[in-house]
Amino acid sequence: MGGYTLIENAPLANRNTLRVAARAKLLAEFRDASRLPELLDFPAIRNSRLLVLGEGSNVLFTGDFDGTVLVMATRGVQVESDGDSARIAVAAGERWDDFVRWTLGQGYAGLENLILIPGTVGAAPIQNIGAYGCEVAEFIESVEAWDTREHCVVTLDHAACAFAYRDSLFKHEPGRYIVTAVRFVLPRSRPLRTDYAGINEQLARMGVDKPAPFHVAEAVVHLRMSKLPDPAVIGNAGSFFKNPIVDAALAEQLKRDHPGLAVWPQADGRCKVSAAWLIEAAGFKGMREGDAGISQRHALVLVNHGKASGPELWALAQRVIAGVQEKFGVRLEPEPLVIGASA
Ligand code: FAD
Ligand code: EPU
Repeated sequence: MGGYTLIENAPLANRNTLRVAARAKLLAEFRDASRLPELLDFPAIRNSRLLVLGEGSNVLFTGDFDGTVLVMATRGVQVESDGDSARIAVAAGERWDDFVRWTLGQGYAGLENLILIPGTVGAAPIQNIGAYGCEVAEFIESVEAWDTREHCVVTLDHAACAFAYRDSLFKHEPGRYIVTAVRFVLPRSRPLRTDYAGINEQLARMGVDKPAPFHVAEAVVHLRMSKLPDPAVIGNAGSFFKNPIVDAALAEQLKRDHPGLAVWPQADGRCKVSAAWLIEAAGFKGMREGDAGISQRHALVLVNHGKASGPELWALAQRVIAGVQEKFGVRLEPEPLVIGASA
C-alpha cells in the first residue's frame, strides 16, 4: 500500500536497536517517497524539527524527540543496465542485508564484505558503512534525495557525497537531505578482499582454497557473529565509537608504548588506531553501571542490559571518552547520532 501513516506521540523503543525508551511528537512512516513534499508542507510539520530514521541501528535517544520522525519504508530494486557491471537503483527503505544477499544471488560482486550490517539502504551512505576492509562508497554512483532547504529532488553524484571513513556530506549538513534511493554500480567480478584480519583464516577453516564472493560473505558472517553481540539478544548500536585517526607522530609514540595496539596507516599519512584496544586497556571492557554497560565480547560496543535510559547510556559513553583521553591523550568520538535534550 502506498502513502504514509502518521502516529502522534509515537513510542520509539522498538525503533532503535539500543532499545531505549523515547517518544516522537509525530512519526510519519512512508511507503511512497513521491508523497514526501506534500507531507513536509503540512503546517504541523513545516516548522518542526525533522529526524529521518531507518532501523535505528545507529542512533542513541537521550530524550524524547520534539519534532517529526520520518521513517523510510519504501521498497524497490531496479536494475537499470546490465553487462560486465550493473547499475542498480534501490529504494531507501530496503534492508541493507537483504540487498547484499540479493546481489550475491544475482551473481554481482563487491558487497560480500558488507554482509550482515544492520539497517536500511538509505542510511548506508550517511556514515559510508564499512567492514572487513571495504566501504560502501566504492560502489555508490549517486544518491537521490529530497533537499529540505531547496525543496526539490536532487541527485548527488559520488564526488558530491564527500565520502570518508564513517563520514559524508550528509553528516556535515544534518537534516538537509532525505535520502530516497541509492544507485550502485556492481561488477560481475572483481578481486576479492580477504586481507582483513581473520577472513583468510576463516576461509581455510571452511576448506575453501578458491573463494568466490559468497564464500567471503560466509566467512564474514561467521566472524561478525562470533565478535559482535546480536541486538535481538542485547540492545546495542554496533561500534559506539569511531576508530580515532591521529597524526603519525602520536601513532608512533602510542605504538612504541603499547606494542599490542592495532594501527592502520591511512593514505594521507595519518593513522587509524583501534578504539576497542584503547577502551579495553583503559579498563572499561565488560563494565556495567546499572543496565548500561560495555560489552564483554567487544570493547567498542555499548550495551543495554535491560532498562538503561538514554541519559544513562550517554553518561557511560562520556566516562569512556574521559577515561581514554586521560590514559592515552586520544579523544574518542561517538559513531551513532546522539539525539535529545542532553546531547
Ligand atoms: P538509523 O540508525 O535509523 O540512522 C542512522 C543515521 O542515518 C541517522 O543520522 C539518520 O538520521 C540517518 N538516516 C537514516 N536513513 C536516512 C535517510 N533515508 N535519509 C537521510 N538520513 C537518513 N556500521 C558500519 O558501518 N559497519 C558495521 O560493521 C556495522 N555493524 C553494526 C553491527 C551492529 C550489531 C549494529 C547494531 C550496528 C552496526 N553498524 C555498522 C551501524 C549501522 O548498522 C549502520 O550505521 C546503518 O547504516 C544504520 O542504518 P539504519 O537504517 O538503522 O539507520
Ligand atoms: N580489540 C580489542 N578489544 C576488543 C575488541 C577488539 O582490543 O574487545 C582489537 C582487536 O584485537 C583488533 C582491533 O581491536 O586488533 C580491531 O577489532 P575488530 O576487527 O573487531 O574491528 P573494530 O575496529 O573494533 C571496525 C568497525 C566495525 C566493523 C569492524 C570489521 C569502526 C568504528 N568499527 O571495528 O563496524 O564491523 O571493524 O571491519 O570502524 C560499526 O561501525 O558499528 C561496526 C561494527
